[in-house]
Amino acid sequence: MDADLLTAIISRWIHVGTAIVLVGGTTFLRFVVHPSLQESDTELMGRIRARWKKVVHAGIGLFLLSGIYNYWKAIPLHKGDGLYHAIVGTKIILALVVFFFASALVGRSAGTQKFRDQAPKWTLIVVVLSFVIVAMSGFVKVRPLPAPPAAPEQISLPSGGN
Ligand code: HEM
Repeated sequence: MDADLLTAIISRWIHVGTAIVLVGGTTFLRFVVHPSLQESDTELMGRIRARWKKVVHAGIGLFLLSGIYNYWKAIPLHKGDGLYHAIVGTKIILALVVFFFASALVGRSAGTQKFRDQAPKWTLIVVVLSFVIVAMSGFVKVRPLPAPPAAPEQISLPSGGN
């Protein structure tokens, strides 16, 4: 198999696999772990966060590596396709926002403590934004491609009359 094709397939596996683990894990945290914990379980929550943090940091790294590679490979295929770049560009900005919230939720700095104090609310925001990102990514993947601009020799010019 051609090396370029193999890299593209592996990059997609990494990207989609990371989405499954991170979005699934965050959904589990929000809808199973948070409601099962009591106010007094702060130590347990601290231990869960310390472990989840490693997954979040590795996932952000993998998302950035595979996402930048995917985009770099997609650019030549979508020349002049403004809608594609608008959707993927917005998706990348949203992903950076999600990375910030997800890092704040597992972080330890005083500046991000307000996110951890309201962890169920911010975790829900991460889940909702992640699903929006998945929806945008899925849409650009399956939407019909716009017709390529006609090649210059196919454009019929009015005949000169002689
Ligand atoms: C929360 C973070 C992210 C999630 C949940 C996510 C999810 C996804 C999913 C589900 C796909 C569809 C894959 C497929 O159908 O084959 C995809 C494709 C893609 N992602 Fe991401 N992604 C995230 C972050 C990023 C980042 C940070 C970048 C770039 C820096 C990026 C760039 C791309 C590109 C270029 C594609 C291919 C779009 C196409 O079909 O042409 N993604 N992403």
